[in-house]
Formats: sequence, C-alpha cells, structure tokens
Amino acid sequence: MQSIVSLCKRRGFVYQSSEIYGGLKSAYDYGPMGVELKRNLMNEWWTSMVHSREDVVGLDASIIMHPNVWKASGHLSSFSDPLVDCKVCGERFRADKAPKAEEGADAPMELPDKGKAKAALDKLEKMGEAGLTRNGKSVLGAKAGDRGYVCSVCGSPFLSEERQFNLMFRSSLGPVDPMGAAADKIKAVLNEQGPEALQASLRKILEDAVQSTAVYLRPETAQAMFVNFLNVQQSLSMKVPFGIAQMGKSFRNEVTVEHFIFRSCEFEQMEMEYFVQPGTSEKWLEHWSQARMDWWQKIGLSKDKLRLRAHESDELAHYSPATNDVEYLFPWGWDELEGVASRTDYDLTAHTNASKKKLQYFDPEATNPETGKKGWRYLPHVIAPAAGATRGLLAALCDAYDEEPADADGKGARTVLRLHPRLAPIKAGILPLVKKEGMPEVARRIADDFFKAGVTAKYDEQHAIGKRYARHDEVGTPYCLTVDGDTAKDETVTIRYRDDRRQERIKVSEALEVVKKALADA
Ligand code: GAP
Repeated sequence: MQSIVSLCKRRGFVYQSSEIYGGLKSAYDYGPMGVELKRNLMNEWWTSMVHSREDVVGLDASIIMHPNVWKASGHLSSFSDPLVDCKVCGERFRADKAPKAEEGADAPMELPDKGKAKAALDKLEKMGEAGLTRNGKSVLGAKAGDRGYVCSVCGSPFLSEERQFNLMFRSSLGPVDPMGAAADKIKAVLNEQGPEALQASLRKILEDAVQSTAVYLRPETAQAMFVNFLNVQQSLSMKVPFGIAQMGKSFRNEVTVEHFIFRSCEFEQMEMEYFVQPGTSEKWLEHWSQARMDWWQKIGLSKDKLRLRAHESDELAHYSPATNDVEYLFPWGWDELEGVASRTDYDLTAHTNASKKKLQYFDPEATNPETGKKGWRYLPHVIAPAAGATRGLLAALCDAYDEEPADADGKGARTVLRLHPRLAPIKAGILPLVKKEGMPEVARRIADDFFKAGVTAKYDEQHAIGKRYARHDEVGTPYCLTVDGDTAKDETVTIRYRDDRRQERIKVSEALEVVKKALADA
C-alpha cells in the first residue's frame, strides 16, 4: 500500500489536502493524473448506467438540501457512529470497529514509551484500579469488561460510556447570524433569571440557535433521487421499472478514517435508485448485483479479487430485507466497494409522510392485487446500487499496480500501472526519439491530431527514450508512439504497448485511428 501512496504523490494522482500547512486529516486532492483517472472511471459508470440504457436517466442535484430531507430519511436521528473515549490514552474511537475482547480475558495495554506507561499506571491506581503492574511500556493485569472490546490504540478496557456521534457536516444557510441570536438569548436569561437558570438552559439555547439555520452537506447522493422521484417520472413519462442515477460528492464526518482515500470525509459516490413494482425486488436485486459485479470486471478489476457478499441479518440496515456488497481484495483484505441494497418503499414512504406529497406511481396496465382489476397505484420499491467513485479509483490503482523484476541481465525492472486503457489518464505518449532531424516536428503534428480529437496525449521529448517509457508505464499510459529515423523514410512510427512492451510499426496517418480503435475494443 505504501508503494501505491508514494506513486500517487510522485506522479500526480493524489496529494494530501493542504499539505504545505501540515495536511488536513482525511482530505485529499486529486492531481493532474488523479483527476483524469477519476473522471474516466465516473464517465465509464455514467455510460454504462445511463447512456447505454433507456430505463435509467440522470440527475445532478444540489449538495445542500432542505434539512427536512435528512429528518425524514432518518439521517438526523440515526446516521451516527458509536464513539468511546479511552480513559488511559485518551483516544476517541468507534466502538463497532474496536478490537474484540471476551469478558474476563487478559487486556494488556501497550503505551508508546515507558514514561507514558508509568503515567498510565499512576492514573489507573488513582482511579482505584488495583493489581496492575508495568513491564517496560506495557501495563499488565487488567481484564476485559462486558463491552466485548478494548481501546483500538492501547488495548485498555477502561473506557467511557458509548455515545452516538452524527456523521453529517452541519453548516448554516442564509445571512442570519445564529450566534448573535444565541448571545441575545443568553443575555436575556442571565438578566431575567440569573446564572443558575442559564446553566440549565445554555446547551438548549445554543442548540436551538444553530438548528434554526442548520443545513447539512449531503452524506449520500441517494436522497435526491427519492425526493425527485415524481419530478423525473412525470417530466420524462418514465415507466416503472426505471432508475435515476447520480454521481458526485458526499460528506461524512468519519470518526475512523483509514487506508488512504478508502474512507475519507469528502468522497465521491455513483448511485442509482431503481424503482420497481412491489413483489419484484428479489429479481431486480439479483439482476443489479450481477450487473455491478460485471461492470467492475469490465473496467479492469481482476475477477479473482472481486466477490459478492450477502449481508448477514445483523448487518442489514433497518429498511433493507437484503443487501449484497461488491467487495474487493484490497492490500489489507476484503472490503466494501459497492452496496446493492433492496430498500423496499422505505424512503418514498418516509418522504410521503414528511412532505405530505403523494409519491405514488400509477400503472394502468398492472393488475391491482387488492381489487383484481387493471390499474394499480402504488409506491414503488427500490433497488439501490451505491458505489464509491474515490474508493473505486483506489481499487483500480491497487489492481493495476505491478512491479516487474529485472531480467537475467539485470535489466528491465519497472513499475507499471496496468490500468484499463479507457481509465488511463494519458492514452498516448507521443515521443520523438531525439530532439533533431525533424522528429519533434512530426511528433508535434501527431500530438496535435490527438488534441483535436480530444484523445488525451502527452508530447514528451525530455530524457532518454527508456526513461520516458518508464515514466509513462508508471502512470499507466497504454500506448506510446515513437517517431524515429525511419519515420521520415516510410511515414511510420513505432507503437509500444505498455503491458507487454511489444512494439509494432504503424503508419503516421493511421496512428490516431489505431489508438482510438484499441481504446474502443479494450
Ligand atoms: N445510499 C447508500 C449509501 O450511501 P453506503 O454503503 O454508505 O451506502 C455507498 O455508501 C458507497 O460509498 C460505499 O460502498 C463506498 O464505496 C462509498 N463510501 C461510503 N463512505 C465512504 C467514505 N467515507 N469514504 C469513501 N467512500 C465511501
């Protein structure tokens, strides 16, 4: 993983956000190569989910939505992680992600150094914990409690109560200054009722003030599809089954950020809500689970590193009778890439109840199961394939990354990104062998043809040809076109294929078409 992170920075895929200021935890910037890779991945998704189907249409909704959307969807009350503080090292962590430990099992604590271990032991003794000893930087003798887990950093079983921490980022909308209103209210309570009354109501005053203008950065793109269900259905006369797709940024104040861009606070999603007739969800869940597995393979992820895993009953969201995760074998193990959830009519019902707007669909052809007559008005059920775009980008990088050893002569070692050609940030490197004898001019002409056609290419004349090939291998450029001494004689160039370094001669006049065809056939 470290090699991939380092390549990402070195070659302009992903940088730590605000690096010159020490970096911002869990926020990342996509550099010149990363932005191309991300766009290519998302465009492939859009082509497959929207452009190549007549039953799915797109949406680009605002990131900030009416706060009642999040109230109705349940995000305000329950989109939260259980948080715990360690009383020994002070770490705040997610209870559900902490290392498991059976009640009564030994719970040795490991502090960063001897001094910290000694301080921890003193603190625990002051807390009344007897029978503990220290060995170097370890504190021994503690037993796990009935929580079933210990601190994720030091292993301590001495933990605060769990409390729920909402993952949505809150902001405020409009020119109102909620702090000004809060200050006025505080002054009034203080003057009229005194400091004791203020003590009791301070938190509520502040909470009310903030809440009065509160809006949230969307934690998922899905809700916009539910609240726009009727708009889209009616304006395009869509017939069930049909889908609404959207891709874009989502925000979660994740407590545990992990594995580089795998889990971050700002990320991109590619989601589709597929509205189906009640009673047909099982069939469509099967259909979309398979379709999504196929797609990840189609864009180049290895078949043996992908699997479909059905959620156990204790993992299922309260609204979902069945969910399948598409999982990828990341360097740290199998982990979620996409969830395909059967969501019943949960969301449309919630928004119908909260907005008092009927979100029903009328199908004149379907038989109403209650009356036995033609014409059925119902709330569609939903199958929702929800994928991470930034997480998909990480999977694509992990899958493509390869270090090839040197040959018997000690030559040819290289790092290569075997990205699917359509995902590759640069499609063709255009390289004059040397900077003379008219080669740069021909190479420039070829590059211009690529630019005019909108096929990303890079004219590159710096350094020896071997070094240039190595640079292109590292960013995953699938084809390099080299103009050499023969070009002037026979109007041909060498095309070099990234994956097997094979080289062929092709006509200069056909170079663009050859690359375009290779991309289309890939
Ligand atoms: N609307 C359903 C939904 O959002 P989810 O499983 O929470 O479901 C869908 O998210 C996908 O979004 C995940 O499978 C993952 O790929 C991606 N995702 C979720 N949280 C993320 C985070 N903090 N950072 C990066 N990607 C994330």
